Amino acid sequence: MPEPLRLLADAPLALAVADRLHLVETSAPEYAPRLTVAAGRRPRLAPGTVLTSAAGPSLRIEGAFSRPGDDDIPASRVHVAAVLTPGDLPAGETAFTTEKSGLSLAWITLSDKGSQGLRADTAGPAIATACAAALPVALAKGHIIPDEPAMLKALLVDLALTQGYDLIVTTGGTGLSPRDTTPESTLAVIEKRLPGFETAMLTASLAKTPHAMLSRAIAGTLGQAIIVNVPGSPKAVRETLAAILPAIPHGLDKLRGDPSDCAQA
Ligand code: MTE
Repeated sequence: MPEPLRLLADAPLALAVADRLHLVETSAPEYAPRLTVAAGRRPRLAPGTVLTSAAGPSLRIEGAFSRPGDDDIPASRVHVAAVLTPGDLPAGETAFTTEKSGLSLAWITLSDKGSQGLRADTAGPAIATACAAALPVALAKGHIIPDEPAMLKALLVDLALTQGYDLIVTTGGTGLSPRDTTPESTLAVIEKRLPGFETAMLTASLAKTPHAMLSRAIAGTLGQAIIVNVPGSPKAVRETLAAILPAIPHGLDKLRGDPSDCAQA
């Protein structure tokens, strides 16, 4: 049983389900605007982690960002948490247990028009639906950005390394159009390429359409995240993900250092 996480509130808070809190991880609790992760413990609060208090509210971590320091306030890591169960949080210290079950999914739609609101995005939500049907998804969050390599590379690094998402699926930009650069951006940030994922998606897709050979989709790992490109239509999303989702849980276990011997299976 891990040591409970202690949160310090500088004033009583009434939390409603719609609320988002910023949990500031700092050794300077006197500065906290609302809540401070107590000094002495530096937990990995990955997206999807649920914080539960004995009598009061429960929270779910949705992401994190770095807060720059200045003369008064040290640089700190800030976790964004959604309120799952409403309730009163007293001033002072409240103990929360932390548990992450299931995996966190971030999907990214690459679309110049979609990012400007000129086209409804159906491919991104199709990723969330397909993954939730096949995997124990604890949290799914989506992004829509233009086909800009710098934006995609920065977002992939942020989601994988700063926020700690488990599975990151991009849709669109894998083909031959002048602004299709998703595979190049993905190759620039991944650490281990997963050619088996790419082959599985291509094989399944070729059984559906010869146009499948026009997709240059890449898969690989970054930190403890698996990143997968899929083409830009909802149909292609379903067809490609069906081929690889069965391997995701074991892949994530291995990425986290699961020592079990696959050769014995
Ligand atoms: N793969 C599957 N499974 N199903 C599809 O319908 N469409 C293809 C291909 N891969 C398709 C597919 C087409 S028409 C194109 S142009 C390429 O993916 C690239 O798509 P993208 O640029 O939207 O990523």
